[in-house]
Amino acid sequence: MKHLLSIEKISFRDIKQILENTVMFKRERGSQTLLPLKGQTWAMIFAKSSTRTRVSFEVGIHELGGKALFLNTDDIQLGRGELVKDTARVLGRMTHGCIIRTYAQQDVEDFAHYSQIPTVNALTDQEHPCQILTDLFTMEERFGTVRGKVVAFVGDGASNISNSWAFAAGKMDFELRVAAPEEFQLSDEVVEKAKGKIVRTTDPLEASEGADVLYTDTWISMGKEEEEARRLTLLNGYQINRKLLEKAKKGAIVLHCLPAYRGKEISEEVFEQFSTVIFDQAENRLHTQKSILDWMSD
Ligand code: CP
Ligand code: NVA
Repeated sequence: MKHLLSIEKISFRDIKQILENTVMFKRERGSQTLLPLKGQTWAMIFAKSSTRTRVSFEVGIHELGGKALFLNTDDIQLGRGELVKDTARVLGRMTHGCIIRTYAQQDVEDFAHYSQIPTVNALTDQEHPCQILTDLFTMEERFGTVRGKVVAFVGDGASNISNSWAFAAGKMDFELRVAAPEEFQLSDEVVEKAKGKIVRTTDPLEASEGADVLYTDTWISMGKEEEEARRLTLLNGYQINRKLLEKAKKGAIVLHCLPAYRGKEISEEVFEQFSTVIFDQAENRLHTQKSILDWMSD
């Protein structure tokens, strides 16, 4: 049985297979007859808000022949204290797979263990593997390969997105630079485990020098709302804007996982300049996740 719980745990070979098949899912959308989820029902348990992940999985499951069952945690007994392991054992007997967006990484791991059905991490505080697989695909679409490229992540370096980027750098052989204030920098633990070419700095200009990709994410991730004032103060200055873009390599692209907060982690001007590739990236969530679901049902 296959799960997608993190970039940390997925192999290089599996990433390559998912990315290769994404090309086919994108090219043949609407005309392909492959229905690997025919007759299946997949649960989608969401404890946090979502636009892209929810819609792309619901549409993707439908296009692969299955049915998606969206379950907001407030509407099921999990939200009233039923244990993850009991919820998992119930859904494992009724549904064919599960997609979970929640806080603790351990909850997704426990769900996979107890449900014994294919389980996807649709974002935890620790990782966002579906997003980073999509980002790798978007880079391959633009550059042919991610190997040897330089990705400069500017902003909250201690987030789920930056953690997943770090694990991807180790596996896919590109350089990751993370520009963040010390308090919001990629942890030693992640850097040690990721074993990739990772440079940490407090200087966003230094990180952007010659980079192929400038990448950012919200300064205030879901669940961190109480820290808003401190984050706005400390992260001020870690914005992707024209100054940083001028340092990047000629032909560099700007990516953003979205949702974007203009005037904070990215300037309005740079966001709009790169909106085509940023919304290609958003669309690619659908194609990449169809490929993930197909890989899981192998
Ligand atoms: N990037 C992303 O996961 O977006 P949503 O929170 O809208 O799903
Ligand atoms: N780091 C962000 C990603 C949103 C897709 C969050 O967790 O809110």
